[in-house]
Amino acid sequence: MTEQMTDRREDDKAEAAARSRSRDMPEISLASAAAGHVPTPYAREAVFRLDGLGVSYGGVSAIRDITLDISERQITALIGPSGCGKSTLIRCLNRMNDLIPAATVEGRALYHGEDLYGPSVDPVEVRKLIGMVFQKPNPFPKSIYDNVAFGPRVLGRKDDLDEAVESALRRAALWDESKDRLKKNAFGLSGGQQQRLCIARALAVDPDVILMDEPCSALDPISTGRIEDLMVELKENYAIVIVTHNMQQAARVSQMTAFLTVELDDEESHRTGRIVEYAETEKLFTTPEDPRTEAYVTGRVG
Ligand SMILES: Nc1ncnc2c1ncn2[C@@H]1O[C@H](COP(=O)(O)OP(=O)(O)OP(=O)(O)O)[C@@H](O)[C@H]1O
Ligand SMILES: [Mg+2]
Repeated sequence: MTEQMTDRREDDKAEAAARSRSRDMPEISLASAAAGHVPTPYAREAVFRLDGLGVSYGGVSAIRDITLDISERQITALIGPSGCGKSTLIRCLNRMNDLIPAATVEGRALYHGEDLYGPSVDPVEVRKLIGMVFQKPNPFPKSIYDNVAFGPRVLGRKDDLDEAVESALRRAALWDESKDRLKKNAFGLSGGQQQRLCIARALAVDPDVILMDEPCSALDPISTGRIEDLMVELKENYAIVIVTHNMQQAARVSQMTAFLTVELDDEESHRTGRIVEYAETEKLFTTPEDPRTEAYVTGRVG
């Protein structure tokens, strides 16, 4: 890497850090612990506070009683067996469930203290601040440049598009591999590069949070390693929430982990996803409180 590039990356980081500092963060009261919230480590500010959150599809409950805080500038992992509601939960965080007509959300989801589901909140605005990266890379059938410029263009940015594209590609660790082929179709990139392009596309609108639903499950170990390195770097400036089936990945990158499972509800009529344990990742993996967590993380079930 050249010195100039390193400088620019440092500039990008400093700029993003300043943005993050200048944001008006709400005070977090200690009363939350009494209310059942699990305090997150390192005295980070909560970006999300979920309180009794539940989602039903066509009246059938998929997740319920989800109460936890998600902090800024760290990685929060959601783990649990297939069907326990990880995707349902992560989609609540940027109102992607709104796009599923049968889905209804109950309980509260505060984002920087504001009710995400409040009547005056525009879901499109929400998705600008809270970007999402999916399991399968989904670049648009456009050039690399146009993929990254898409969001800034929607926001009406015209003058400094080149700069915005370069900055996002640098932050997504894709600049070196793509700078000579920006006008080429994004489908010409490898799967791992396409996933980084999707991350760059999310970063280009200067989000606050990045949600990732199994972002590496379609990737080989080398591309997975690059995305993991990237996540660790990005967490300096963003809150990241990742869904993963890869226990080692959760242990490697995240600071907090929530383990969900799917169990019969109180009336024993149907199965619904709940949080079993939410703790610092190291604790959850080494000394979990709940035997169900231990069974899952040691590979005895799930
Ligand atoms: N669009 C939908 N319509 C109806 N039911 C749905 C929908 N999406 C999810 N569900 C149901 O909600 C429950 C949780 O599904 P979800 O996809 O959130 O689980 P998951 O933990 O992400 O699973 P996986 O690990 O397999 O991705 C499941 O019972 C599923 O069938
Ligand atoms: Mg899922």
